[in-house]
Amino acid sequence: MLTARARAQPNIALVKYWGKRDPALNLPERGSLSITLDTLWTQTQVSFDASLGVDHMLLDGRDCPEGLARTSACLDLLRGLAGSHLPARVETHNNFPTAAGLASSASGFAALVVAGSAALGLRLEARELSILARRASGSAARSIFGGFVEMRAGVGADGSDAYAVPVLGAAAWPLCVVVAVTSSQAKTVHSGPGMQLTRRTSPYHAAWLATVDDDLAAARTAIERRDFAALAAVGERSCLAMHADMLASRPALIYWIGATLECIHVIRELREREGVEAFFTVDAGPQVKVVCTPAAASRVAAALGGVVGVQEVLVSGLGGGAHLLGDAGAAA
Ligand code: PMV
Repeated sequence: MLTARARAQPNIALVKYWGKRDPALNLPERGSLSITLDTLWTQTQVSFDASLGVDHMLLDGRDCPEGLARTSACLDLLRGLAGSHLPARVETHNNFPTAAGLASSASGFAALVVAGSAALGLRLEARELSILARRASGSAARSIFGGFVEMRAGVGADGSDAYAVPVLGAAAWPLCVVVAVTSSQAKTVHSGPGMQLTRRTSPYHAAWLATVDDDLAAARTAIERRDFAALAAVGERSCLAMHADMLASRPALIYWIGATLECIHVIRELREREGVEAFFTVDAGPQVKVVCTPAAASRVAAALGGVVGVQEVLVSGLGGGAHLLGDAGAAA
């Protein structure tokens, strides 16, 4: 039996990704930029074993038939590289709520690619791991790396230049992320079909895409200078422009609920009236993620915890990239 275990953390995009130039290869229309978290993680063990017959997947100890197709497709890419036909058993565990807009697909597929490739004896560079993770989930390409990470859209039709690169290590600018969980229900429209709907029907899509390259440049400069106010400005405007594009889809994609908007107002007020260094971002779900300085974290957590409809508040620092656990040592 060939076995390996890996851990990966979710990432939160500050300059957002919304739109695919090639859905089959999962190629983004534009780049994106994210931060990788530390205290939230996915841990995955992959065991290739001829006696299994077919692939199996367990999520938090239970059979997960709904996750099997994407998992097997990802393993097929690894098996293709290794020249293997062995079926696999995948056991995965998240220490945070799954499918509620906390990017479990990002940490999940990053951990799967790192564990699966190691189990098959493939010695892949971080860039190759990022490309393989991207095939399963665009945001997973970024969770291969820690700290501040930029995803390159690339121009090639084969996707060989569409991968993530590290921008700045987690320790070099140790920000915090406070997550306000406003709903634990799984989202209604997943990001893949949501992006396709927006690209096809939103009259704002071209305008949204036109913002991304300038926002990436502004975010890079803000990170280089550790300029929190500049990062806050670009982070909020990228999030809101993406949601404007989503809202303009036909039918409209409305991921926010009342508590989402209330959290946004609370954070703007904290910053504008009291000078608290914090800004919000929201993905394809109702949760609100607030990026702040460590000094502001408890203040932000208390403010979000006081919003009606907020069920749970999670606090995380920035962390490292996906890595192997156990005897096999660290990777990426
Ligand atoms: O790659 P996916 O399917 O996890 O899509 C990510 C989409 C957003 O979370 C909304 C934005 C982003 O860049 O993470």
